[in-house]
Amino acid sequence: MPQQSILLTGGAGYIGSHTFVALREAGLEPVILDNFANSHPAVLDRLHKLTGKPPLLEKGDVLDTPWVESVLKRHAPAGVVHFAGLKAVGESVAQPLRYYRQNVAGALSLAEAIQNASNGTPPALVFSSTATVYGDPDNVPVREDAPLRPSSPYAQTKLDVENMLLAAQVAQPAWRVGILRYFNPVGAHPSGLIGEDPSGIPNNLMPFVSQVAVGLRPHLSVFGNDYPTRDGTGVRDYIHVQDLALGHVAALKALLGGNQGFTLNLGSGRGSSVLEIVDAFGKACGKPVPYQVVARRPGDVAEYYADPSKANEVLGWQTRLGIEEMCADSWRWQSRNPRGYAG
Ligand SMILES: NC(=O)c1ccc[n+]([C@@H]2O[C@H](COP(=O)([O-])OP(=O)(O)OC[C@H]3O[C@@H](n4cnc5c(N)ncnc54)[C@H](O)[C@@H]3O)[C@@H](O)[C@H]2O)c1
Repeated sequence: MPQQSILLTGGAGYIGSHTFVALREAGLEPVILDNFANSHPAVLDRLHKLTGKPPLLEKGDVLDTPWVESVLKRHAPAGVVHFAGLKAVGESVAQPLRYYRQNVAGALSLAEAIQNASNGTPPALVFSSTATVYGDPDNVPVREDAPLRPSSPYAQTKLDVENMLLAAQVAQPAWRVGILRYFNPVGAHPSGLIGEDPSGIPNNLMPFVSQVAVGLRPHLSVFGNDYPTRDGTGVRDYIHVQDLALGHVAALKALLGGNQGFTLNLGSGRGSSVLEIVDAFGKACGKPVPYQVVARRPGDVAEYYADPSKANEVLGWQTRLGIEEMCADSWRWQSRNPRGYAG
């Protein structure tokens, strides 16, 4: 039987590249659609090494609707995962229009291309959403039916796309849409061949800690140690990117198996504080990670972590890897590739 093809917009990026490997391991044939706006073509060689054959690539912009339509017609994918987009909360406050164009207009372009390319039977669609749609939650763990209070243009664009896709599904029940709200993806493939390669100053904790540990930055700034948490620092739900990749495989298999759609949290259900991560990373790399406590960052919340039980019920999926593996795998990636894919 021919392998089912799965189109990954943004498939050369951090989460997309790990999902690429997981999909090939699951017997599916992923095709990467990417313009390399935030990724490095060297990832393709690494994916070749990891999976034993070169990746299929469609290089271009998801905003180019006629071209995306031609890609869909060429590959006739059974499923599409829409990773392509921008993801930095602070940057979205400074450049909201760019975020609306890339995230909202990008998803609209893809959805229109799907509609134009498919004769009534659109591919299953999985969308990368975010736990930031919940804003500052009233309760933890956070369930999918918690109030939605996006507090940045980034979070708002993700919620807008969720609503757009759900409306498309109401209008055309043949659409199958899986919305995945990620908590905090970290870690890397255990081979050390692929990982997160942020350009400029990292926005997230783990790549920052990794860059301090490898000597690229002098110390980590810990934003506030007076939150009402167990050690005063912010608590987040970190999810190993390998577990996240398997969540996408499970989501696609469910949709391809007849599930009509879902909105699910993908998280571990456990919160870890900044200092717990710093400590675990120090153990993974064999030396303490220097840090300084500085003022809180506006907009940061004290604590949030997922209730991932619905994903377990619907997909039979749950995380397997803890913060030790997250830190060990991040360190292996960072120490073998101190400057990321560039060398
Ligand atoms: N990493 C996180 O912390 C996180 C958390 C929640 C949600 N998400 C979402 O998950 C998705 C993937 O995140 P990631 O961490 O892998 O990001 P990433 O930046 O590593 O990957 C995104 C990929 O999309 C590509 N891309 C961007 N704009 C494009 C366009 N117009 N046309 C074609 N390709 C384009 C980039 O080149 C990159 O390879 C994003 O939509 C992000 O918002 C990420």
